[in-house]
Amino acid sequence: MSSPPNPVVAPSHILALLDRLHKESTTQEAALGTYLGTPDGFDDLMRDKFIALDQDKCQFVYQLARATGARNVAEVGTSFGVSTIYLALAVGSNIKTSGGGEGTVIATEKEATKAEKARRYWKEAGEELVTRHVDLREGDLLETLKENVPILDLVLIDIWAPVALPALKLLEPKMRSGAVVLVDNSISSAARYAELLAHLRSPANGYTNLTLPYSKGLEMSIKL
Ligand SMILES: C[S@@+](CC[C@H](N)C(=O)[O-])C[C@H]1O[C@@H](n2cnc3c(N)ncnc32)[C@H](O)[C@@H]1O
Repeated sequence: MSSPPNPVVAPSHILALLDRLHKESTTQEAALGTYLGTPDGFDDLMRDKFIALDQDKCQFVYQLARATGARNVAEVGTSFGVSTIYLALAVGSNIKTSGGGEGTVIATEKEATKAEKARRYWKEAGEELVTRHVDLREGDLLETLKENVPILDLVLIDIWAPVALPALKLLEPKMRSGAVVLVDNSISSAARYAELLAHLRSPANGYTNLTLPYSKGLEMSIKL
């Protein structure tokens, strides 16, 4: 049987890096039990964990970013920067195939050690195809996303639940008509994301919504 196609166009060292990072993330996650402690304890536990978006979801995000020609993207939750690499590759290719110009993936991470590790992986991927397309905002994204956000084509929400809706509300004025919002784990974390999903699904807020049947769910909403 042939393996499923991978839409990501990138040199072999980046594809190998992504395979390696996803493998490390999956191994870490398999070892994590259900967390029952405090929010501070949760941050401590997650400080050395990838918790990266699954590889098939990342490939979908890349394919979608290519299909929509996305140039400006906000990544709400970056961790070690795995999904960022896909977004940067897509933005870079979109710029190249549409005659140049500007485009950025705004990445967000509050943990300095995680931001540092993300930078190292982006460097390993390379300046030309990845690093130059990333604007990493270190610190609480509810502060770092308040200013200098361009008109957005795509928003990826992969973050602790209490921050998700405030982050979306902060970005909404910057989202172009037709912008896509993706929310990870919209099935498995439906209860935790209840306010966010209610906001996206309320007709008054002008989104169309679709729950994609990836493992644990991936919500795809379009701002009309
Ligand atoms: C699920 S991980 C992101 C994974 C990443 N999208 C990937 O695929 O590699 C969520 C990250 O958001 C960060 N985070 C949580 N609250 C934050 C906040 N208020 N501001 C910035 N980053 C935050 C966490 O430290 C964590 O690393």
